[in-house]
Amino acid sequence: AKSYRIAKIPGDGTGPEVVREAVKVLDAVAEKEGFKIEWVEYDLGGERYLRTGEILPAGVIDELRQMDAILLGAIGHPDVKPGVLERGLLLELRFQLDQYVNLRPVTLFPGVYTPVKDKGPEDIDFVVVRENTEGLYAGAGGILRKGTPHEVAVQESINTRMGVERCIRFAFEYCRKRNKKKKVTLCGKTNVLIYAFDLWERTFREVAREYPDIETDYAHVDAICMWMVKNPEWFDVIVTDNMFGDIITDLGAMIQGGMGIAAGGNINPNGVSMFEPIGGSAPKYTGKNVINPLAAICAGQMMLEHLGEEKAAQRVLEAVKRAVARDIKDLGAGKMGMTTQEVGDLVARYAVE
Ligand code: IPM
Ligand code: MN
Repeated sequence: AKSYRIAKIPGDGTGPEVVREAVKVLDAVAEKEGFKIEWVEYDLGGERYLRTGEILPAGVIDELRQMDAILLGAIGHPDVKPGVLERGLLLELRFQLDQYVNLRPVTLFPGVYTPVKDKGPEDIDFVVVRENTEGLYAGAGGILRKGTPHEVAVQESINTRMGVERCIRFAFEYCRKRNKKKKVTLCGKTNVLIYAFDLWERTFREVAREYPDIETDYAHVDAICMWMVKNPEWFDVIVTDNMFGDIITDLGAMIQGGMGIAAGGNINPNGVSMFEPIGGSAPKYTGKNVINPLAAICAGQMMLEHLGEEKAAQRVLEAVKRAVARDIKDLGAGKMGMTTQEVGDLVARYAVE
């Protein structure tokens, strides 16, 4: 039988709890569909850092490169200074593995509450293609005259033709495959960020010419925030830079029912990709068995699709839809009317029926 080697990085906070349920569901569908998943666990994150001082030990990246995919729980620890783990681990993985797209679907499943007035599943169904290796995240800049009244902090946005083009091209390819509204919207800020988004806008127009079957649109990032709430049905694929993508996908998560169900994939089409719930480590819920594992399960679902296990992916998708439509009261932590483990058990059972 076919077998996959998947790295599992449970990470911090509620990460291990949600990854455990995702693994349960994936193992169940793998058995049902006749393939095997060999999980290789990596102890990375805040606990290890506090214990040993190690963030990303030498050799780990090379091992990860050999995997078929990576499933990540969450990175971030309340006792570690902000930025140490985020930059040193999560971003380091994305950058070193050259996962240049962060793919974040915004899908409202039937039966899930959305705070968006008068909109339903037929209206909220789009995907954000977030550039994942450049922009403000590149870490370019510095501080001058630190601690003086004349201190200057510079944080520069790096945008390369190669980086922007491959991200935009991915968005068009994905849009064609997705085969829904056949529309790609560039999200930028051409009226203010006149260098960065000049490059984005020109590249977008040039790449678009190769996709005459796909409609194009442009919106400023602030306006996109408004329209995601007012007219989410306008969107099919939104492509944007790293920082804007980070921000609008939290908004996207809220309109699709919250962090409890929002998943994403850090994609390197020519290398190893990493799938994660986008909600973070949620320290206050850690160990309480109340966190919603659906986001991690949906990340696993995206991973199956990425591996080409369409039938297994479909099973997980249908199982999640069934669970949210009938059994799970509310997607918020502690409000599900079920424990973390019970949600995992339920989805695993539905997925193999
Ligand atoms: C995300 C997170 C990360 C990001 C943080 C934890 C570095 O917010 O995946 O969206 O900003 O990319
Ligand atoms: Mn974020």
